[in-house]
Amino acid sequence: MDEHSFQHSVELAPLRGAYDEPCMFGVVVTPSRPHIHIDSLPVEWLRDLVRDRRLVVLRDFDSFDSSHSLVRYCSAFGEIKMWQFGAVLELVQHPNPEDHVFDNSYVPLHWDGMYLDTVPEFQVFHCVHAIDEAQGGRTIFSSTPEALLVAPPQARELWSRARGSYQRSVALYSSRTQAPIIDRHPRRHFPILRFCEPPRDSDDTFINPSIFEFDGIAPDEHQMLLSSLRSALYDPRVSYAHHWQAGDVVVADNFTLLHGREAYASRSGRHLRRVHIHGDPPLNNPHISTSYQHQANQAET
Ligand SMILES: [Fe+2]
Repeated sequence: MDEHSFQHSVELAPLRGAYDEPCMFGVVVTPSRPHIHIDSLPVEWLRDLVRDRRLVVLRDFDSFDSSHSLVRYCSAFGEIKMWQFGAVLELVQHPNPEDHVFDNSYVPLHWDGMYLDTVPEFQVFHCVHAIDEAQGGRTIFSSTPEALLVAPPQARELWSRARGSYQRSVALYSSRTQAPIIDRHPRRHFPILRFCEPPRDSDDTFINPSIFEFDGIAPDEHQMLLSSLRSALYDPRVSYAHHWQAGDVVVADNFTLLHGREAYASRSGRHLRRVHIHGDPPLNNPHISTSYQHQANQAET
């Protein structure tokens, strides 16, 4: 598609929250006529749009009819981060899950690759099968530079002293990560938050939680740290819950956002595909503890 026809083929609108208010980040892109395929959109334009708006929802385009065509598209977008299982994670409920990712439970906020040797810059999601809104399952995206803007000064002061330590063991890896709550974007150096949210207190149905520690703050500041982070990160101006439609493609800036998931109805058939794409060059994980990196490397090869 040449530039002239491209400019007339898409429409951009701000993301809107649960009460129809505009979010402080994100954009929805829709085609201005039927049967425009996502792979006809210029990749450079889309990559720049994700870096600028942090989250791009592509809706009502012709998209991918197989995981193979999704991978082919993503390999034009950038270098795919390969996992032991391949390029595509099939996000579906498993019958007897060993981890919450494959349960129908909620997933607390986190960033992808936090436990691995490299951290992908982008996540590409494709919705294969959507469920009714009443069945839950929205994906939550929270924009951390905007969370810093809306947070009160005393919260930012507390965050500036705090550091999170997280340990996680799953089938593919076992590793430990330490990150300051207020960090810098690894390539563009503006302030961001790195925070892996603990599961809600007293939830003993949550499968395979990570181990969480927060230091740099007094013991009696621990609860305030978690409550102030949740208050800012789930602020409606900063947080967006995406209700999926079949065919949706969502591209997220994993360096800047945190993401999680609402619980959804068991056996409802929710099915997303996810591909990780590296920045250029790929980012070596600045937070992983080296003593565990070897295991993570092995798990990914
Ligand atoms: Fe994730």
